[in-house]
Amino acid sequence: METKVNSGLRTVEWKDNAVVMIDQTKLPNELVYVKFSDYREVADAIRNLVVRGAPAIGVSGAFGLALAVLQSKAKTKEDLLSDLEQARRILHDTRPTAVNLAWGLDKIMQVAKSRNDVLEIKESIVEEAKSMADEDIKVNMRMGKYGAQLLGDNDTIMTHCNAGALATVGYGTALGVIRATKESGKKIKVIATETRPVMQGSRLTAFELKHDGIDVSLIPDTAVGYSMAQGLVSKVIVGADRILRTGHVYNKIGTYQIAIMAKQHEIPFYVAAPLSTFDLKSRPEEVIIEQRKPSEVTTIAGKKTAPDNINVINPAFDMTPPELITGIITEVGIAKPPFEESIKKLFETKL
Ligand code: MRU
Repeated sequence: METKVNSGLRTVEWKDNAVVMIDQTKLPNELVYVKFSDYREVADAIRNLVVRGAPAIGVSGAFGLALAVLQSKAKTKEDLLSDLEQARRILHDTRPTAVNLAWGLDKIMQVAKSRNDVLEIKESIVEEAKSMADEDIKVNMRMGKYGAQLLGDNDTIMTHCNAGALATVGYGTALGVIRATKESGKKIKVIATETRPVMQGSRLTAFELKHDGIDVSLIPDTAVGYSMAQGLVSKVIVGADRILRTGHVYNKIGTYQIAIMAKQHEIPFYVAAPLSTFDLKSRPEEVIIEQRKPSEVTTIAGKKTAPDNINVINPAFDMTPPELITGIITEVGIAKPPFEESIKKLFETKL
């Protein structure tokens, strides 16, 4: 079944005291919405990739806490904060690499702590989570405008995984830059990698762009070098799950090898991510790379493609070092090397 999606579509939203999200595990074959009124269901949805992509899980975590507030029977501020802390921990522990999740949860906890009583907390948390969702789209559109300046007419952009409307509340980060470039009147083409093992590139990016009328070609992950060597790629733009103060970028597994390949072929390699994706405190050795279940690698679409009991290494993310990155596009401007300095300036701009 062909289904419709476009940049105006909401990946996750708050409706009638429940969280409604697109079940991304069903795409591209079915567009199914799921509705949750228990924060534990939201935690499961994050863990099982029903919702995925750093900004989308950040907002989903915030909505999860909003549900926890509604679910709580606490009569005092202290008891409510303790219920919320328990929910925060459960939501937080679902996926360790994308820092937006911790960011979304911490923001809601701060608002809850700053209110005087149970009623004030209940009144403000849902509104705060809803405004975080609205803000996500605005931030992506601002990022898109900055990024569009870097792309030329007739450029072909390679992207990896899905950093689109489906990875955010709407519009997208890397794909937001591509959308903004197209909206500015430039002709633009996209090469999307399949992104094994979970296929966010073929299932989500190719699907999203095709239905938005953006020229997209799908390649196997193994054709990145071929495409670059053939001169088919003008620039690379990817999203990010976590960016350190030093410009180390954590993103979907395979990003690192694309960056190396881009360097070899002198192709600019850009990262597009909101300030909520930056982790200014951690050092590379402190970042946890999520390891996912072996069956993602030993099967394709539920069919076994490897021998029984084979050892599997299945990291969900890798780290691209700053020396491979041409620029980092954010909603307040573009950071260029040396990143330690330029990232610091971006955060000063924000203040
Ligand atoms: O495992 P996923 O699908 O959550 O991984 C998503 C990515 O790696 C995206 O590139 C990243 O979150 C940026 S999304 C705007």
